[in-house]
Amino acid sequence: MSELVTIILAAGKGTRMKSAHPKVLHQVCGKAMVRHVLDAAEAAGSKRNIIVVGFGADEVRAELGNAAEVVVQAEQLGTGHAVLQAEPLLQDAHGTVMVLCGDTPLLTGALVKKLYEEHAKAGAKATVLTAVMPDATGYGRVIRTAAGNVEKIVEHKDATEEERAVREVNSGIYCFEKDALFSALKNVGCDNAQGEYYLPDVLSILRERGEKIWAVAADDYEETLGVNSRMHLAQAEKILRRRKNLELMESGVTLMDPESTFVDADVVVGRDTVIYPFTWLEGKTAVGEACTLGPSSRFTDTKIGNGVTAHFVYAHECEIESGATMGPFVHIRPDSHISKDVKIGNFVEVKNSNIGEGSKLPHLQYIGDCDMGAGVNMGCGTITVNYDGKQKFRTKIGDNAFVGCNSNLVAPVAVGDGAYVAAGSTITKDVPADELAVARARQKNIPNWPDKRK
Ligand code: UD1
Ligand code: CA
Repeated sequence: MSELVTIILAAGKGTRMKSAHPKVLHQVCGKAMVRHVLDAAEAAGSKRNIIVVGFGADEVRAELGNAAEVVVQAEQLGTGHAVLQAEPLLQDAHGTVMVLCGDTPLLTGALVKKLYEEHAKAGAKATVLTAVMPDATGYGRVIRTAAGNVEKIVEHKDATEEERAVREVNSGIYCFEKDALFSALKNVGCDNAQGEYYLPDVLSILRERGEKIWAVAADDYEETLGVNSRMHLAQAEKILRRRKNLELMESGVTLMDPESTFVDADVVVGRDTVIYPFTWLEGKTAVGEACTLGPSSRFTDTKIGNGVTAHFVYAHECEIESGATMGPFVHIRPDSHISKDVKIGNFVEVKNSNIGEGSKLPHLQYIGDCDMGAGVNMGCGTITVNYDGKQKFRTKIGDNAFVGCNSNLVAPVAVGDGAYVAAGSTITKDVPADELAVARARQKNIPNWPDKRK
């Protein structure tokens, strides 16, 4: 087999989505649909991937970065016209060109690979992947001859009542021999209900030329579902989440209730981790082994070590090392680094801070822009005063420091190693190591006060 090239069609507006953004950028399981398709192509061994963009081209480009080559279809004149736009990029290519649609996020690498292999085995000029749908509405129907060979594909809008009764549909996924594809595309017309150049017409054109065309049926129709509306999007979301949860359970993760556990496509979770209901693991989140997460927690782009316990926690763009315990009601904000065995208790917010090994933030803290050493104890209600209304400043707290309850550390300020801050202090000057700072009014007791009031 020669080097496999893939064209992914992603220029359409997706009118039925009623969206300001291109359809293929809508996310399923936390990832743009076109990315899912690209991943499937790559998993199937595609070495060169060309994405045809049009509506919202810049947005699609921004999403893809340099993950694929991009070609623009200025006017969306149909799927056949879209494929033609890639021809100039393929002057030197030979062999098989695979065509995928950017709106089939459930596609797997295994299925794409199967299509490619069967196409090669059949020695066909064109092979279409088909599926039998419980509800074929909107899809192109696969019309077969009496002998069972593919005769043509008829779009829903062009189909007769009899043709619409067919439940075998075109998945929109094909393998073509390059020269046959582009020569047939030049003969595709637009005399149809939508006035578009239909890619599936290539099949009947090749058949009429006496070339071999072939069909491969998907075992599981779900993998080929095309997303055209918000309803389809929700359907795809549900299927992909279920698939991801099954994968996790098969790899040794306990989900207390898979129905209410939401894990994005690229998230990894180590074995023996237990996830309680209403927990979201999003984006590039990676969780170690033997953690207990949730209930009601959300982790976005968060790296979590082993044996971490977190309930009722929202953490994003941060790192939490092994053995840390957190919650309930904790918010860990971006650029925070929580070291090993840190204990973060009730109603605590941490932002852009490093918390050293074994330090304790047990109740009601705001820690922002702070570099905290190891073994620090922060009393209830301690706060870093990091913002003067214009600028942010950092607070430094040394190893084994003890900050008494309800203290304010007014940054920029440093509390030395082993230093103490008396409860209720407002610290505006550095506290040297191993010293006690008391920064509050002294208590004065007034005798017989009740009598004097009378
Ligand atoms: C298409 C197929 C249909 C098949 C279905 C499978 C055609 C004519 N019909 O229909 O047989 O059953 O997919 O899901 O091919 N696109 C472009 N440029 C265009 C038009 C579309 O790039 O000018 C892209 C879209 O962005 C989309 C894909 O091609 O990713 C499919 O287009 P869509 O309009 O969704 O086609 P369907 O009506 O679903
Ligand atoms: Ca579609």
